[in-house]
Amino acid sequence: MNTSTPFHFAQRAARIKPSIIREILNLADRPGVISLAGGLPSPNSFPVQAMRDATERVLRDAPQQALQYASTEGFGPLREWVAADLGTQGIQVDASKVLITTGSQQGLDLVGKVLIDPGSQVAVEAPTYVGALQAFNPYEPTYLSVAGDDEGPLVAGLEAARHARFLYMVPNFQNRGGRSISDTRRDELAARAQQLNLPLVEDNPYGDLWFDEPPPRPIAARWQDGTVYLGSFSKILAPGLRLGYVVAPTSIMPKLVQAKQAADLHTPIFNQRLVHEVIRNGFLDEHVPTIRSLYKAQRDAMLAALQRHMPASCRWTVPGGGMFFWVELPPGIDALAMLPQAVEQGVAYVPGGAFFADNSMRNVMRLSFVTVPAEQIDQGIATLARVLREAQDPSIRLAA
Ligand SMILES: Cc1ncc(COP(=O)(O)O)c(C=O)c1O
Repeated sequence: MNTSTPFHFAQRAARIKPSIIREILNLADRPGVISLAGGLPSPNSFPVQAMRDATERVLRDAPQQALQYASTEGFGPLREWVAADLGTQGIQVDASKVLITTGSQQGLDLVGKVLIDPGSQVAVEAPTYVGALQAFNPYEPTYLSVAGDDEGPLVAGLEAARHARFLYMVPNFQNRGGRSISDTRRDELAARAQQLNLPLVEDNPYGDLWFDEPPPRPIAARWQDGTVYLGSFSKILAPGLRLGYVVAPTSIMPKLVQAKQAADLHTPIFNQRLVHEVIRNGFLDEHVPTIRSLYKAQRDAMLAALQRHMPASCRWTVPGGGMFFWVELPPGIDALAMLPQAVEQGVAYVPGGAFFADNSMRNVMRLSFVTVPAEQIDQGIATLARVLREAQDPSIRLAA
């Protein structure tokens, strides 16, 4: 009997890799491990009662429409809601420029599908969102990492990216240090990109989760015709709904819609109607501030724990929003190689190396402060600090 597989993988399958974060989540999902790894929103932030009530209303008022196939572009009233909401942030669009997607992760895939050829260049920040690399990789780009400073990617770096298909950025609370791109830098980047005719892809799932002051206007508000903007309901409502959106110039919207048609026909209409029913009367105006104060308290708990336990050789900046601390370890420590020891001792984190398309940095880790309660944060950081102090083991040190 021939036991060998009859399947022959496409070449691109070799570029489809597991997400390191999902692998770590599996590893960390065992009793006794405090996971600071996942970017999972706090379950305490999910508006369960509002969802329950809205489900009742959707099934009462529009049961057949909610359970039927629907349009690829998305539920009209939800698209209108998104357009109006973006208007308050300076992005002037009507609903026809809004495509509802199955999470903003699908938006990244669609953008990759319609804009990337094998061997074409995509410019990214360093670090960038590892899930975006995962979405783009099957389309076989080469990456150019644009160097940055405390204010964001360096404008001078765009010169080298002038032939890239686009520059992908996560402007709010995701950069190393949990920083955001400054207002001035956003102006400069938009202006220079426009001069160079370099399209921008702005991915903004965290912008609403600010603690001290709101982030500057989106980059898309500064160069609308050249920017694709991605938003998400995952961090302000519930990620399990898988609802996001893409706002794109008219020049590329039809291709994105056709690519989505091929991918999944449309995003579940029940979820779209449900979310619209929950948010249409200003629900988020009250709900989002409760998430902000919950997360701010958790950030403060992690900051206190880091200050209390971590060796003086580690560095971090205090994130002004979002869900993560980025901790820089002493040079020579490989955060990926240290992970098994950390998990063994009861704490998990995401090694930061995966967030660098050019593999340029390995002595960095990303810690989520939103998923576990404050007491566990302290215990997790104490354990991590102990693992670091024991990190004299040569196997977790980078070769000189
Ligand atoms: C920067 C960024 N973009 C996109 C996503 C995908 O979000 P979703 O598909 O849940 O909207 C995430 C998820 O963590 C993210 O961090």
